[in-house]
Amino acid sequence: SPELMASWENLAAAGTSWSSVFFGCSRANAFLCRRTPNRFPKGAPWTRYHGDYKGLHIDLVWPGKDPVLGVDSVGTVSAALVTYASIQLLKPDLIINAGTAGGFKARGAGIGDVFLASDVAFHDRRIPIPVFDSYGIGARKTFETPNIVKELNLKVGKLSTGDSLDMSPHDETAILSNEATVKDMEGAAVAYVADLFSTPAIFVKAVTDIVDGEKPTAEEFLQNLISVTMALDQAVMQVVDFISGKCISDL
Ligand code: ADE
Repeated sequence: SPELMASWENLAAAGTSWSSVFFGCSRANAFLCRRTPNRFPKGAPWTRYHGDYKGLHIDLVWPGKDPVLGVDSVGTVSAALVTYASIQLLKPDLIINAGTAGGFKARGAGIGDVFLASDVAFHDRRIPIPVFDSYGIGARKTFETPNIVKELNLKVGKLSTGDSLDMSPHDETAILSNEATVKDMEGAAVAYVADLFSTPAIFVKAVTDIVDGEKPTAEEFLQNLISVTMALDQAVMQVVDFISGKCISDL
């Protein structure tokens, strides 16, 4: 609906670096709402915009601002919490985790490219004990959408997640080992929660900065945030339009 799009654009204009879109059946949700709370718990900064668009019920969920510092609640803790709460409340058929990412030019990423992640993993969870090491890395394949890849002009690559915008020498080694093309601060956390509750999730990430380039990451990120968020906005709209009228198994 126009209202929903206005909300998305407001978020983009506000420089949102993280957001998710949840799809579900509106009739099932309406039924649930009469019996269960239809809001996030009081005190959480999480925000939900929702509406119907081309036969889909769309919940756009945003982690909101940190209650103390007033900045966007980026990172894995917020992402996992809001994903958990959203799955419980909204029972989505599909999660789209849309956001910005750093890209590696050595692996073919450029500013403004939009990637669909084939795999996700963490790069800052070091537990050097057998099996715990793999648990920490948390590598997993994302929900496969071969027809979206075929139909839309999105690049495909592996995504590595950590709680820092910059990259420490250890992060670099771990990202290399994860064979990542893009690096964000939420994806693997969203994937972990989505997998726990058997909810298909896809990851659409737009590149704001080149991690293996010359420019300081924070500066390049802020410089490109608005224009790249517009590219992300367009890509997510294409994905949503593609999904409209299809079953999950057609994606
Ligand atoms: N989001 C945008 N750029 C990023 C980077 N370099 N690292 C993590 N998350 C990001």
